[in-house]
Amino acid sequence: MRVAATVLGVGVLAIGPVAAYNNGVGAKPPMGWNTWCTDDVCGLIDKCSDALVRQQAAAMVSSGMSKLGYQYVNMDDCWAAQERDADGNIQPDPTRFPNGMKALADYVHSLGLKIGVYTCIGTTTCKNNLPGSFGHYEQDAKQFASWGLDFIKCDNCAKPAQYTEQELYTNFSNALNATGRPIFFSLCEWGMSDVQAWGADVGQMYRIQMDHLPFWELPTHAAGMGFGQGTFDIINYIATLTPSTFVKQYGWMDPDFLMTLFNPTMTYTYSKTEFSFWSLWSAPLVVSTNIANMPQDKMNILLNAEVIAIDQDDSHTAGDRVFNKTDGCQAWSRNLANGDKAVILLNGRTPQWIPSPSDNLTISIGWEQIGFTNQSIVAVRDLWAHANLGNFTGSFKSSSLAPADCQMLRVKCLASC
Ligand code: GLA
Repeated sequence: MRVAATVLGVGVLAIGPVAAYNNGVGAKPPMGWNTWCTDDVCGLIDKCSDALVRQQAAAMVSSGMSKLGYQYVNMDDCWAAQERDADGNIQPDPTRFPNGMKALADYVHSLGLKIGVYTCIGTTTCKNNLPGSFGHYEQDAKQFASWGLDFIKCDNCAKPAQYTEQELYTNFSNALNATGRPIFFSLCEWGMSDVQAWGADVGQMYRIQMDHLPFWELPTHAAGMGFGQGTFDIINYIATLTPSTFVKQYGWMDPDFLMTLFNPTMTYTYSKTEFSFWSLWSAPLVVSTNIANMPQDKMNILLNAEVIAIDQDDSHTAGDRVFNKTDGCQAWSRNLANGDKAVILLNGRTPQWIPSPSDNLTISIGWEQIGFTNQSIVAVRDLWAHANLGNFTGSFKSSSLAPADCQMLRVKCLASC
């Protein structure tokens, strides 16, 4: 059932939300790249270009990323011209996109990839007051489809207060579906209005909190709302939501972009742990830092096929926190489709400027804590060491982990579970 949007794009939600998840895309968490922290410091200026998008798309292929499932090449709040044209059509900035959007989409498609842009549910975008889509939902949806776009991220700035997020995002979803082109609809309304309850009926992914900033932990320990959070703040916030209860196929929870090795604030350890958790949650793996000429350590993170396999696993669920001890030991666990489980053991102590070995933790977990029994014999594989660690009866003890570091395991029951 679809609700036709009115001319203003603000039709009343009279019949019920459209099942946008049924539009042919989003069967797996999307993987890709976004301009956000590549063209500058995560939106400080945010001026993407045709040349940048082509460079990153080509890198997605040459780096081997596309072979592992990365396919979306997305622009954030950086591509649109300041004004709509005389007919009210949204346009790319003519200087930075001299070939227009259709030619760029054709190029990205010629590489076997997909392309997306950003807009807002309100009247203007969050930066530079670029045109938002309010009042133009149908017109913009048709324009995006005619350019051959595959992915629309819809932000929540300048939303007229008299409408709810659910109403307006539903109307935009309807307009996209009405084009007949399968377009991945990414809701970026920052976790407002209990989006877990309805986001999956309207789009294929929905942001669960404010922006992920390229830090491990912010001094405020911000959780949930607020301007933004570090990686560890997001981990702790999502623990409170028990994500396995609502993450599902075609409706992925979005903890925001990967900040992989953002220089200088995201260390290898932070980035490795970030990638582990996003995968444990079946989250979109959309990296926002430069993927051209990546250093080897960055490739080792983004190209870890064993961790990506957890993200893309047919169980289509998320892992939840098992324990969070006062000494900083955390354990998380997730069911996998073949009966295995993914486990993360995390040292949740705050990293210090001068690291001290006394802050390292060795984390023990009993198999009964992840749904097996304390008699279980379990085969353990380390997904970052790419090594089988052996068979463990009853419990497992991690290696010595520095603050913010984690061990990510795939465990298989052999007997007595
Ligand atoms: C909001 C979003 C970010 C980004 C910016 C663009 O803050 O949450 O992800 O898209 O707007 O201005």
